[in-house]
Amino acid sequence: MLNRNEIFKLRKAHLAPSLSMSYNTPLHIVKGFGQYLYDSEGNRYLDAVNNIQHVGHSHPKIAKVAEKQFRKLNTNTRYIDEKIVKYAKALTDKLPENLDVCFFTNSGSEANDLALRIARTITNSNQTIVLGAGYHGNLSSLVDISPYKHEGPGGAGAPDFVHTIPRPDKFRGKYRGDNTVDAYVSEVIKIIDNIKQNKKNVSAFMVESLMGCGGQIVLPESFLKKTFKLINDVGGINIADEVQIGFGRMGSSFWGFETCDVIPDIVTLGKSMGNGHPIAAVVTTKEIADKFNNGMEYFNSFGGNPVSCSIGNEVLNIIEDEDLQKNALEVGSYLITQLRTLDHPLIGDIRGIGLFVGIELIKNKELLSPATSEAKLIENHMKDHGILISTDGPDHNVLKIKPPMIFNHENADELVYNLSSILNKNF
Ligand SMILES: Cc1ncc(COP(=O)(O)O)c(C=O)c1O
Repeated sequence: MLNRNEIFKLRKAHLAPSLSMSYNTPLHIVKGFGQYLYDSEGNRYLDAVNNIQHVGHSHPKIAKVAEKQFRKLNTNTRYIDEKIVKYAKALTDKLPENLDVCFFTNSGSEANDLALRIARTITNSNQTIVLGAGYHGNLSSLVDISPYKHEGPGGAGAPDFVHTIPRPDKFRGKYRGDNTVDAYVSEVIKIIDNIKQNKKNVSAFMVESLMGCGGQIVLPESFLKKTFKLINDVGGINIADEVQIGFGRMGSSFWGFETCDVIPDIVTLGKSMGNGHPIAAVVTTKEIADKFNNGMEYFNSFGGNPVSCSIGNEVLNIIEDEDLQKNALEVGSYLITQLRTLDHPLIGDIRGIGLFVGIELIKNKELLSPATSEAKLIENHMKDHGILISTDGPDHNVLKIKPPMIFNHENADELVYNLSSILNKNF
């Protein structure tokens, strides 16, 4: 087995330097089980950040179905196969009635790229509206529509067909407080009018119903309800990016968009869908899928293969069998309540739904200056205390908590206790 230094050396020689690592002293994780990770020295870490390992690391049932199907058959969608249709049925049964047609892909990025392509084909336009600080993936087409990337380090700004609404953040956004919804909606109206004045059509409005990389932002109530209607009224397509927040994580509902009481035209899924196995999807209506079927085939070498679909199906079964949506509701609410008992000047805002939580750190209660370096320090101290969280948001001052869905009350207590002692000891 290679030691830490040898791995570092090989990584430096053969992996691209634009791949970053977590924590000042990166971890050498060698094993995972449930909500825990173990490093090469045998230290145990509570994983409070990996929402990809939705039903837990190394779930035996996932390993079992993957092995069974791998030993039997793995092909592509050009053959009739029971696994893909059963999975498509199970998945669409979880979605609103008319969202019943699936395209399978290998990553959330591929799903979002396809969703854009569908919207552009149908509307004959590329005019895309997004939320400030939003992130939708690593493909060129998605860097274009992700302010988190194109306005961040190394970014070249938005192309002229991408229109950005100020991040609807009632704590530190352009409009603040509890009655901001109409102000943010007016920004959408302005953009739609602008697109129309330029004699163009709105193609797509792509949003996360609870923003992840944008800083764990819970959107103002009825913001999506009002804006989705505006977009549909001018013939645009609403795309809900559920890559981070879907599959029961919200607790109160299976999908993030349901917390906003809307039905999108297209939903994109990924991350937790395969519990770490690369599977993602676009789900839309029959009408939209038929309009997209203009003669150009959609083929994806790996998307929808029997191994991936068996795994995806097992993830759905485990969510049901282990009652994980209910766990997200109960433990998520408990975690937020416990976090709100913390009283420290760095804590500006605690927000979230279910097991998708953010703690925004600020330096000055009036100016609300982002406590970026403090957030980084806390992230590293938490790691040293055996708890893995991350930081995010455009200023990287939001502590992000989005653990596997088996996270329990004791895990929440351990997190809150350690965060409290780190805050009180160091700041
Ligand atoms: C909201 C959102 N959409 C899409 C993606 C892209 O998914 P992937 O990394 O699987 O390509 C991400 C990844 O972090 C994401 O957070």
